[in-house]
Amino acid sequence: MTSDEIRERYLSFFESRDHKRLPSASLVPAEHDPSVLLTTAGMHPLKPYFQGREKPPHHRLTSCQKCFRTPDIDQIGLTTRHLTCFEMLGNFSIGDYFKADAARFAWELSLEGFGFNPDDIWVTVFEGDEELGLGPDQEAIDIWLEIGVPRERIVLCPRSENFWQAGPTGPCGPCSELYLDRGLDFGKEDDLPGGDNERFLEYWNLVFMQFEQNPVGTLTPLPAPSIDTGLGLNRMALIQQGVTSIFETDQFVPLIQLGEQLSGKTYDSGDVAVDRALRILADHTRGMSFLIADGVVPSNEDRGYVLRRLMRRAIVQGRRIGIEPVFLPKYAQVVRETMGKAYPELIEQADTVDMWLTNEEESFNRTLEQGMKMLEDVIETAKRTGAEGIGADEAFRLHDTYGFPFDLTLELAAERGVGVDERGFEDLMEEQRTRARASAGREGGEDAREQLRVFASSAGEPTKFTGYETTEQATAVASVAVEDGRVLAKLVESPFYATGGGQVHDGGVIECEDGNCSAKVVDVVRLGDDQALVLEPLTGELKDGERVWARVDRRARRATECNHTATHLLHAALRERLGTHVHQAGSYVGPDKLRFDFTHGSPLSAEDRAWVEDRVNAMVLENQPVRALTTTLDEAKSLGAMALFGEKYGDVVRMVEVGDGGFSRELCGGTHVRSTAEIGVFKITQETSSAANVRRIEAITGPLGVELLRRHDRELTAAAVALRTQPDTVAEAAETAVRKRREAEKALEKGAGAADTSVGEVVEIGGVKAVFEIREVPNPKALPDLADKLRGQLGDPAVVVLGAPGEGRASLLVSATPGAVAAGVKAGAIVKVAAAVVGGGGGGRDNMAQAGGKDPEKLPDALAAARAEIERALAGSGA
Ligand code: SER
Repeated sequence: MTSDEIRERYLSFFESRDHKRLPSASLVPAEHDPSVLLTTAGMHPLKPYFQGREKPPHHRLTSCQKCFRTPDIDQIGLTTRHLTCFEMLGNFSIGDYFKADAARFAWELSLEGFGFNPDDIWVTVFEGDEELGLGPDQEAIDIWLEIGVPRERIVLCPRSENFWQAGPTGPCGPCSELYLDRGLDFGKEDDLPGGDNERFLEYWNLVFMQFEQNPVGTLTPLPAPSIDTGLGLNRMALIQQGVTSIFETDQFVPLIQLGEQLSGKTYDSGDVAVDRALRILADHTRGMSFLIADGVVPSNEDRGYVLRRLMRRAIVQGRRIGIEPVFLPKYAQVVRETMGKAYPELIEQADTVDMWLTNEEESFNRTLEQGMKMLEDVIETAKRTGAEGIGADEAFRLHDTYGFPFDLTLELAAERGVGVDERGFEDLMEEQRTRARASAGREGGEDAREQLRVFASSAGEPTKFTGYETTEQATAVASVAVEDGRVLAKLVESPFYATGGGQVHDGGVIECEDGNCSAKVVDVVRLGDDQALVLEPLTGELKDGERVWARVDRRARRATECNHTATHLLHAALRERLGTHVHQAGSYVGPDKLRFDFTHGSPLSAEDRAWVEDRVNAMVLENQPVRALTTTLDEAKSLGAMALFGEKYGDVVRMVEVGDGGFSRELCGGTHVRSTAEIGVFKITQETSSAANVRRIEAITGPLGVELLRRHDRELTAAAVALRTQPDTVAEAAETAVRKRREAEKALEKGAGAADTSVGEVVEIGGVKAVFEIREVPNPKALPDLADKLRGQLGDPAVVVLGAPGEGRASLLVSATPGAVAAGVKAGAIVKVAAAVVGGGGGGRDNMAQAGGKDPEKLPDALAAARAEIERALAGSGA
């Protein structure tokens, strides 16, 4: 049975038992689920249904979900069963059937669908846990007995094995797992399921979801007991295809073969390192293709880091077995051939996947070359200085700053007979992990949100949002409450847009129909299909059931709408100009501006920026109608609508299109202008980088755009006046002014040296000619040059003492010819004495010394002191 057949058999089995088939959700969890970095189980995307926060499309669901588990990365290749990226088949009941049917379905499909012998199936059941306050799952035991599983093949297992939770918090419950007994060829008589052995292979996990795990560690019952099951497709393929390793199943053989072909090595021929490398390459290239197709780009944070690690591990392994770069895209092609039918996004995003793979491989290869050179230096130094080996700091720096893998450092050092401080390196890594954990504390605000959620759900039916059609709504207050000093309210109907999809919430007021009370809207919080308001009372007191007028601040809403539609136009223009690898990576749409983050590897050139701006403004000028349509997700996709990665969409979606939709068509819940001309003008204000491989554009529209242009005009006019020219020749005039000033400065510097190099009064002290002068120079740096010129005119022996006043400072210089030095005139000593007079210090060599002080007006005294010092030095010398 091929992997495709397994998938289809499972899904159609449950479909024919009234389950709705759902497509796989993205590997990037939806915004509402910050508890995980990547989707690790089939139930993740369904969490809001289990928690009763959103209405499921059906009470019975089935899916094949792509999953990614990061704790296993280091295991990959060492074992025959670990994968980072795998498919999980599941059937789910949202408050519909429970344990009995879940067990019965699993039993039926195992026998009829997968052809297992009932005598080979063992099950495990939760044995209870004191800390959780739960006893053994007797109900499950009874169900399995009734199905016909003998008691001795029902094994009790502890919490660590048989209690499942979706993360630190969230829905959870005891589980029951199905195992296949592969017989004594694989193990011993007394092996048991749940133990560490090869005889019993777990293939299906049935979670009896009953509780919500709260942050404080307590369990509260879910709105309704539910079922979440997970069957690893790749493991089932291993069983069905009668092979001993996942890498020998149909999804992996082509990837292993590609590795053999590219490296000229043979898999499973006794070389452990080659086998490991080929497996890592097969697993990782699948994982990276899926991640990129879901919008992840390589970086040093979060998901981007997971991706980068996969890529780098794969590149290192490829090099190790002699595969020529650039090879990752070749793997991606085979991933598409094997998986593209089931996961069309791999094909749709092919160009994007190939682009990032090529980019990263090329740049990491440069990193490797550079790292090798640095490592060579470190090794050389270690050998030369007889150090014990490579220090932890150096190994860590190579790893952390230069991205050079530690195992490569180890390997290359070993080849050269040099050790590495591995312990020290591990300590540094641990320190870094601790730092990362400390800074990764998720943003607060979850508690406040939870409070709103509880408030809204206890206040009855979800609020009906009417803000697409109107900005003024006569309605009633469903509920008001004061909690922690905040006034919370829920309306029956609300024209207020709740923050979401990058667009900020509306502001506005609520006024009682009888005119006795009013309140300002300070926040509108989206809670699944529902919303809640945070208010600031203005007059009177709002009460439950009160008839009110809800009025949106129209000015802010209109400005926000201009920015939102402009964001769509910008997105489309960027893709047209830069390529379809451009994907939205975040956005802010408010009344003040728009900010758009998108995946792209390099800054935009001035031409790109201008092109994009022009393209958007051209669309504005065309005055194209902007329409929002409701359609099915499939229809929207077939029309090429852009969807956001990581966003969860229902079957029915809202699609916003500009004109005939050919230029821009996006799935979007935001509010927009009715036609593009309302935007007025679109102006990019900055283009920066927001993270690795993510660029950020900020722009403004409408009246604010005009205001910016006006401000620029004012500045320009002021500059023209200052430069005594016209606004359209400001640049030229400024250039001329700057050039003239530079020339003047140069002339001044030169002038100081050249113009006044005539020697003033020369005195003779003990046979040495001496000059003492105070000179104005533009810069004390001009003093040595000037001193040289004066000294040149005096002959030997001679000494020149110069003082130069400046703004709050005094500079001194003493220069002595060799003859003078021989006679006892030490420039350093003299300048020291003189500097003390101007409140400073300094020194230098015998022939030349400079000093500074802070009292320019004392310079004459300083020169006198210098003279006295020279006289003292020469007294008695017969020079
Ligand atoms: N959530 C459970 C698991 O991942 C069953 O789907 O094992």
